[in-house]
Amino acid sequence: MEYVIRTEDIRKTYVSKGKGLFRREKREVEALRGIDLTVKKGEIFGLLGPNGAGKTTFIKILTTLLLPTSGKARVNGYDVMKEERKVRASIGCMLMGERGLYWKLTGRENLDYFGALYYVPKKVRKQRIEYLIDLLDLGDFIDRTVETYSSGQKMIVSFAKALINDAPTLFLDEPTIAMDVHAARKLREVVKDLNRQGKTIIYTTHLMHEADELCDRIAIIDKGEIKAIGSPAELKASIKQEGIVMIEGIVPPDAVEALRSLPYVEDVVVEEKSGKDHLRVITENSRVALPKMIDLLMKKGATLEYISPEEPTLEDVFVKLTGRALSEDTREVNDAEPDKPS
Ligand SMILES: Nc1ncnc2c1ncn2[C@@H]1O[C@H](COP(=O)(O)OP(=O)(O)O)[C@@H](O)[C@H]1O
Ligand SMILES: [Mg+2]
Repeated sequence: MEYVIRTEDIRKTYVSKGKGLFRREKREVEALRGIDLTVKKGEIFGLLGPNGAGKTTFIKILTTLLLPTSGKARVNGYDVMKEERKVRASIGCMLMGERGLYWKLTGRENLDYFGALYYVPKKVRKQRIEYLIDLLDLGDFIDRTVETYSSGQKMIVSFAKALINDAPTLFLDEPTIAMDVHAARKLREVVKDLNRQGKTIIYTTHLMHEADELCDRIAIIDKGEIKAIGSPAELKASIKQEGIVMIEGIVPPDAVEALRSLPYVEDVVVEEKSGKDHLRVITENSRVALPKMIDLLMKKGATLEYISPEEPTLEDVFVKLTGRALSEDTREVNDAEPDKPS
């Protein structure tokens, strides 16, 4: 078996100074708490987890932009700590999206500059840029300075930048953030095509539908730890027998609390959509739980409009493993230093 990535007990603790009055206090954030994983050649491997899970930290370590506090990692056979240049020459990466471009240069100049940085010969660079303009429909704006771009345009040029050196391994860190639905769909199609051409792709996201659609295997990551690894189907099958029930209506908060403590109910995620409560209930056994749930909700004054059993999603797997929703922000430090272009 050929592994493109192999990590052993990767840990990262950020130490930052406090602000204002607390300046002298040191704050420690354990962003990664021992990550072991392998990515096989030819996979689209997803890292799925909420904001603050440690996805970007992990990708930065694998792409040699950040040193781990401890642990080992190899990318394409090279040690990320000792063979930085070899690692870099073997990968393409899109990190922190739009912030990785020079705003005073045009898109084309950015691609040319980063191509040179990756030792792509001038002639090859030219051809490669034309190919990418065509592949990603960059023609309309590639010769304008990046500062005039929309967020979505900056993102797609950052994506092109990741492809400039035609590397066999691609790291894409939440590449569809700030893209509209259409552009995001197009990017995912290109990712699938690149994968069919043989590239290995590491893709981070907090959107379960992206991970589900794209990835051969997914690691569910939360608070710096991997909670589960498997194909989307395997992960969903792991909670299959448990039964998900969707309830729509008006449900008072104390009714939701009561529901949570009912036997056979494992978790409840509540979302408000156009004035209605949408409850997604993970049960141990929906046949047994459902009558009790309805009974309890009626007693607690809920108005129920719609109840239906649902297929489990990756979000349900995440909720089951962590007790929280993927959309939750779990960052401990929100004022991280702005990153320099990579
Ligand atoms: N430069 C930094 N200094 C201190 N804490 C940081 C820094 N960068 C990230 N963190 C913290 O580390 C944790 C993981 O962050 P990150 O890797 O960005 O997660 P994700 O990409 O999954 O949102 C969060 O709690 C975040 O606040
Ligand atoms: Mg991130």
